[in-house]
Amino acid sequence: MGIRVICLGNTTLDKVWPVRELPAGGGKYRASDYLEVGGGMAANAAVAASRLGADCAYWGRAGDDDAGLAMRREMAAYGVDVAHFRLFAGARSSISAVIVSQDGERMIVNFRGTGIPDDTAWLPLDLVPAAAAIHADIRWVEGAGAIFAAARRAGIPTVLDGETATEAAFSAVLPWTDHAIFSEPGLRSFAGAESLQNDANRRAALTKARALGCRVAAVTRGGKGTLWLDEHGFHQQPAFAVPVVDTTGAGDVFHGAYALAMGEGQSVAQAMRFASAVAALKCTRRGGRAGIPTRTEVADFLK
Ligand SMILES: Nc1ncnc2c1ncn2[C@@H]1O[C@H](COP(=O)(O)OP(=O)(O)OP(=O)(O)O)[C@@H](O)[C@H]1O
Ligand SMILES: [Mg+2]
Repeated sequence: MGIRVICLGNTTLDKVWPVRELPAGGGKYRASDYLEVGGGMAANAAVAASRLGADCAYWGRAGDDDAGLAMRREMAAYGVDVAHFRLFAGARSSISAVIVSQDGERMIVNFRGTGIPDDTAWLPLDLVPAAAAIHADIRWVEGAGAIFAAARRAGIPTVLDGETATEAAFSAVLPWTDHAIFSEPGLRSFAGAESLQNDANRRAALTKARALGCRVAAVTRGGKGTLWLDEHGFHQQPAFAVPVVDTTGAGDVFHGAYALAMGEGQSVAQAMRFASAVAALKCTRRGGRAGIPTRTEVADFLK
């Protein structure tokens, strides 16, 4: 068994219809296939950490409906501990309709679910000190705040997936975060549209995040790589040049790999390189989860 990593946050079920080209308007269209695959930032990160060798647990919430059961079953099949993936009676899970064209263009309609409580009293926070690293996304602010506070008390590193959220959400969670890794849309929602306009503005936005108490503030920029700020200053990790087939979940997988690396005691620079390699390899294959490489594949790639 590898080291213990706990990932807390979003889970969603994608119902995917591949079509030749995206519908231009109303009407009836034929799909060449149909599949149901789990997604969501923390849920995908948990699958990634597990596939890379962690003893990984996912803590999250869904409804006790067919979608909730399907998500839990799929994650368990990937080897993730789902004992605290809770399905709430009467609640409805988050699901998305995904229409994807042959050239990879997507149309996504998401239903966020209903009746899922924000209350955190059921979280088994006494299990946090046994973990080596904690990851959470920003979707369940109360949950992220609770698990990060428990991790801070136990001296365990925490990694935040800073996707799009409100300023209030970031203000609540960032003071408890050790490693805040934003996506570009996430950084924009935290620091305003100008934060993406040029390098100076990007750096100012990361400086603002770090001023709230994080040790590391970073932004992932797809094929342009990752910029981060730590106690020594700004650094860059270029993206690996790979034949890209499907970037679905690259950011989520990056976070799962980074959290695992932190748990293993890798340096920030090593972790950024490792997570970039994992995400790049994922981009060479189809599927947010099915495309995640094994540890051996990553090691071979980095040689
Ligand atoms: N085209 C690419 N080529 C190589 N690496 C990539 C590519 N796209 C993404 N990556 C790797 O994955 C990391 C995360 O990607 P990105 O910044 O697109 O995440 P994101 O915006 O959170 O997207 P999502 O969460 O939807 O996957 C990047 O920093 C990079 O290391
Ligand atoms: Mg992301």
